[in-house]
Amino acid sequence: MVAYIEQLMERNVPADEVAAILVEPIQGEGGYVVPPDGFLAGLRALCDRHGILLIFDEVQAGVGRTGKMFAWQHSGVRPDVLVLAKGLGSGLPIGLAIAPTHIMQKWTPGSHANTFGGNPLCCAAALATLDLVQNGYADNAARMGKRILERLAALARQFEFIGNVRGRGLMIGVEFVTDRAAKSPAKALASKIVHRAYHNGLLLLECGASGIRLIPPLMIDATLVDEGLDVLERSMQEAQAEAR
Ligand SMILES: Cc1ncc(COP(=O)(O)O)c(C=O)c1O
Repeated sequence: MVAYIEQLMERNVPADEVAAILVEPIQGEGGYVVPPDGFLAGLRALCDRHGILLIFDEVQAGVGRTGKMFAWQHSGVRPDVLVLAKGLGSGLPIGLAIAPTHIMQKWTPGSHANTFGGNPLCCAAALATLDLVQNGYADNAARMGKRILERLAALARQFEFIGNVRGRGLMIGVEFVTDRAAKSPAKALASKIVHRAYHNGLLLLECGASGIRLIPPLMIDATLVDEGLDVLERSMQEAQAEAR
């Protein structure tokens, strides 16, 4: 994949015209895709070779969601700029761009401003959130994520239409297929399962071509995880029966 980008730079977009490469270290809306080993390191090397900034968008994956404070820590690959939002304020609106001083100083005073930046209430919520994540929630996400993945692996043995299960911590995707060998996406089935789960009391969202995402709160406990997975299993059975 990195070779393909390098090829693009040779043929279509000269590297010296590329200011930055922005990537999610674990893809969100795209389908909860964990990149293959070496992909982020390859991107880092490519950026370093050409003097391109590497930006990690962790709006969805950051702040403990994947079982570590930052999703990049799973790969050890550091970005030049890190972007956070969503979970950072535990529901209060706040976003954050983090970069070393030498990059931040490229902005002249006034070139980056907004109406609500630095809102004291949101900053207080973010500080409290970071404290909780650092002191237990990230570890809980790692533990509960493992529990969910184990159960989903069992469900994948039971239901032929589960094509793939993947994720880190409490950022988990389940992909549905009409045919495992052909890996054909089963979008309608994914929608049906989300619908059935809603009526059974479990809120899910779709993601990617034919997947659902499991993103419970970071403080969820084992009892609630098991209850949610029971509902998911029932919803899959119902969707399967409906499809027949
Ligand atoms: C990975 C990712 N980046 C950026 C955004 C946009 O963030 P915001 O809504 O804070 O502008 C989203 C979703 O909203 C997202 O999932």
